[in-house]
Amino acid sequence: MKPLTREQEEKIEYLISEMTIEEKIGQLNQISPSIVGGFDVSFEELIEMMTDGRISKEEFGRIMAGAKQDYHDDVNRAGGLSSVLISDPETCNTLQKIAVEETRLGIPLIFGFDVIHGFRTVVPIAPAEAGTFEPELMEKSARIAAKESRASGIAWHFSPMVDISRDARWGRVSEGPGEDPYLASVFARAKVRGQQNDDSDPSTYVASCLKHYVAYGACESGRDYNTVSMARSMLYNTYLPPFKAGVEEGAATVMASFNDLNGVPCTMNPFTLRTVLKDAYGFEGFVVSDANAIKECIIHGYAEDEQDAAAKALAAGMDMDMGTWIYSKELKQAAKDGRVQMKDLDEAVRRVLGIKMRLGLFDRPYVSEEEMHRYDTLPEEHLAHALETAEKSIVLLKNDGDLLPLDKKKKISLIGALADMKEEVLGSWAMSGRVQDCVTIREGLEQASACMEYFPCCAPDGEINEEEVRNAIAAGEVLVAVVGEYASMSGEASSRADITLPGKQQELLKMLLASGKPVIALLMNGRPLALAWEAEHLPAIVECWHLGIQMGSAVARVLFGDVNPGGKLTCTFPAMTGQCPMYYNAPKTGRPGSKSKFTSRYLDAPVEPLYPFGFGLSYTSFAWSDMKVKENTDTLEVTVTLENTGDRRGSEVVQLYMHDVAASLVRPKKELKGFCKVTLDSGEKRDVTVSLEKAQMGFYDDDMNYRLEDGKFILYVGGNSRDCLSETVDVKF
Ligand code: NOJ
Repeated sequence: MKPLTREQEEKIEYLISEMTIEEKIGQLNQISPSIVGGFDVSFEELIEMMTDGRISKEEFGRIMAGAKQDYHDDVNRAGGLSSVLISDPETCNTLQKIAVEETRLGIPLIFGFDVIHGFRTVVPIAPAEAGTFEPELMEKSARIAAKESRASGIAWHFSPMVDISRDARWGRVSEGPGEDPYLASVFARAKVRGQQNDDSDPSTYVASCLKHYVAYGACESGRDYNTVSMARSMLYNTYLPPFKAGVEEGAATVMASFNDLNGVPCTMNPFTLRTVLKDAYGFEGFVVSDANAIKECIIHGYAEDEQDAAAKALAAGMDMDMGTWIYSKELKQAAKDGRVQMKDLDEAVRRVLGIKMRLGLFDRPYVSEEEMHRYDTLPEEHLAHALETAEKSIVLLKNDGDLLPLDKKKKISLIGALADMKEEVLGSWAMSGRVQDCVTIREGLEQASACMEYFPCCAPDGEINEEEVRNAIAAGEVLVAVVGEYASMSGEASSRADITLPGKQQELLKMLLASGKPVIALLMNGRPLALAWEAEHLPAIVECWHLGIQMGSAVARVLFGDVNPGGKLTCTFPAMTGQCPMYYNAPKTGRPGSKSKFTSRYLDAPVEPLYPFGFGLSYTSFAWSDMKVKENTDTLEVTVTLENTGDRRGSEVVQLYMHDVAASLVRPKKELKGFCKVTLDSGEKRDVTVSLEKAQMGFYDDDMNYRLEDGKFILYVGGNSRDCLSETVDVKF
């Protein structure tokens, strides 16, 4: 998105000078269609009703579209509206016409929607996609989603979600790029570039929304919306970096998170919204609340009533109210009473109008008939991208005796209800994905002409059909079980206190193993699972996540070896739920966990994770040798020799980690600082260099000073965060 021109800036100032206070406040108001015109069900409740089956996806769509009869008054009422959360292009045009043609100043609406991992072309959920370690793929997914959604009238995505997630119990792990601030920053930049920064055609880009600002993923006990307390240095070093990176890339908007941070709700937190985001980072776009969050600050116990909430939020730097009408109802009186300053109001309006202007909405407010139908059939290029991303997101966790890949002639019993449920491939936030575009694992195997018979046997929440299990065992030479979570078992409001395989699925696996035939588990899940038993007993485990519309085709290609898996884990997999929160980059303790008693350990569980951050096997093998560090004036160049020692071509992610041996604040055991993905033919050997800017080797203290402290650093290089070569260097800055 280009910056504002002088002419556009002047137009904005002119509009502000012309606007009544009601019109200004109207620009700070976003609603969702279900609460327009008298529907008494909130958007969240509607989604819940769809998730738990009370209404179908089609009914949900009809309710969203049907609400349009009642829009007129709401868009037109005093001050009007700024934004609507919606995805139906005809409704967008109807509402836009009212805003542009019937309101006094004709300011267009901006339509926003949760486009989290694809619009029509639904790609893998974020923790999976980030595990490709390929920023170009992440960017392209965002670019495709921008094109597809803008053609439906949506000019604003409520993404990327860049919350650092260290606790696998938290359901929203499924929405973000994992536990590492460096990788999450790479992801944030790629997404913003893809959404916003190709403005060659004004009908194909959208505004990004970095969310949830901030530290939402640190909710106590992994329970959604729960309280967060942390030292400011932890905030600056771990939770803020992806937001900072997204702002540097030009992200147009930011959504505040539901949680309180050290006692102040992020919705009305002057420190995070003003001091950090707007002043220190120089963020020039606008901030939106999360749904109903301004009102919920009353329940939090931080605001006394609606007027208090409105005044506190605006003063703190919250520019737009999502879903409560509180700004519309209360800001005028609050201004009269001197609780709200006109300059704050004008500043918020200026920010909102600036983004609408930069999106070209004043010039092109409507979606044309041609655009509306542009993606009725998905282009080959989009399908190919969804397939490639899905293939590259798959993580091979275990493969004893090279059981995989499978010979296509082998008789396979495909087992598990998840293997043939279309909607489940989409993942937790894919409201615009269409069932007819989804390929299930069963369909993927059929398309690959596998010698396969299918037996549902058991769903994540169901009983075991023992007869089907007997038949499955009898029919196959190899038993491929698709087990894991429904898409709705992760995502918002989907925390779990026990992250083992849900329901009777482990029992199912035990029955299959008892047959003596080889059992392969294909996992479909939205968060790390605790798989200690499975890892001990099953010969092969493949992490498939929720891979999007091409899931089945991608899984089949990996299963039969047409594709050699190279995906990596972006979150640590604990062995047991009780180890949560568990993450590789934890601060060092004075008594690191070991076998001896008085160390940081458990009596009844290991201190090590089951699978570490960055982990993922391949059908080939790699040898690492000759790590060298070369010091230049501003960089350290780390070179390692990587050799493909197996019998097929494969990809490996060369990961560079660092540890600051002694510092004025305790530092993480390891921190990812760079990576490089390489593909090598069988027998090929290559020197791979990853550079580390010296400026990257510091950290923030509690006063937000970035400190580069001279001394010893250990540099690590390897294919995951555990198994690395290392070299110690002395660095003076
Ligand atoms: C609540 C969620 O926390 C947020 O991620 C989402 O964008 C909004 N609802 C709007 O749907």
